Amino acid sequence: MSVTIKSNREIELMREAGNVLAIVHDEIEKIIEPGITTAHIDEVAASIIRKYGCTPSFLNYKGYPASTCISVNEMVVHGIPSKKQKLMEGDIVSVDIGVMYNGYHSDAARTWPVGEISPEVAKLVQVTKESFFEGLKFAREGYRIGDISGAIQDYVESYGYSVVRELCGHGVGIEIHEDPQIPNFRTDKRGIRLKKGMTIAIEPMINLGGREVVTLEDGWGVVAIDKLPSSHYENTVLITDSEPEILSKRK
Ligand code: MF3
Ligand code: CO
Repeated sequence: MSVTIKSNREIELMREAGNVLAIVHDEIEKIIEPGITTAHIDEVAASIIRKYGCTPSFLNYKGYPASTCISVNEMVVHGIPSKKQKLMEGDIVSVDIGVMYNGYHSDAARTWPVGEISPEVAKLVQVTKESFFEGLKFAREGYRIGDISGAIQDYVESYGYSVVRELCGHGVGIEIHEDPQIPNFRTDKRGIRLKKGMTIAIEPMINLGGREVVTLEDGWGVVAIDKLPSSHYENTVLITDSEPEILSKRK
């Protein structure tokens, strides 16, 4: 596969998918409270997505069995929603959603507090979101993928947190995962140069403790080995000839 440049028509479809995605995140934020199940979050998200004539991108992706990924506390990403899993006061819950509109995808994740959370964990959630915006400063023509990666890593590590290495950001559009990969850490390659019309998902996954993770027996859930909390923040971004545009936002 290779990196594609989207046409104005394609970008407009991704903007529409992103608008619906942002509406879904706003609605999910309102229902987060102790006692609800992760399956309930999934049902609410799926019904809003369909109400707008869109499709949940993740459902059946490589056999994934739900519309969203809901990852609580030490779960980094790809938590399968469950009727048996209730949110509890003090938890953090990452909600990762993909929306497809007329064949085009947008992808975004948010991490919400459940009731009152500890100041230590609130800081992790805040810094994870801020690290996305540090990376975004380099999502411009002339910079390389590695500039985004380095900015995220430096910011997060300056707070003593660690960057998960097993999962990365990615191109997005016709497929939910396209080239290029966008690591949240420096690698030996600086990566390709960014160009106008590229659409990418930047998604720091940040652990309070160590960076080591393991995949659960369900083949999906990725958890921090030390069981300390992990936070996730993601948006779909368009590279332009000036400021980057976040596509996963309300129009
Ligand atoms: N949103 C995930 C990502 O950002 C993709 C989840 S695909 C699924 O890359 F199959 F796990 F749902
Ligand atoms: Co993604």
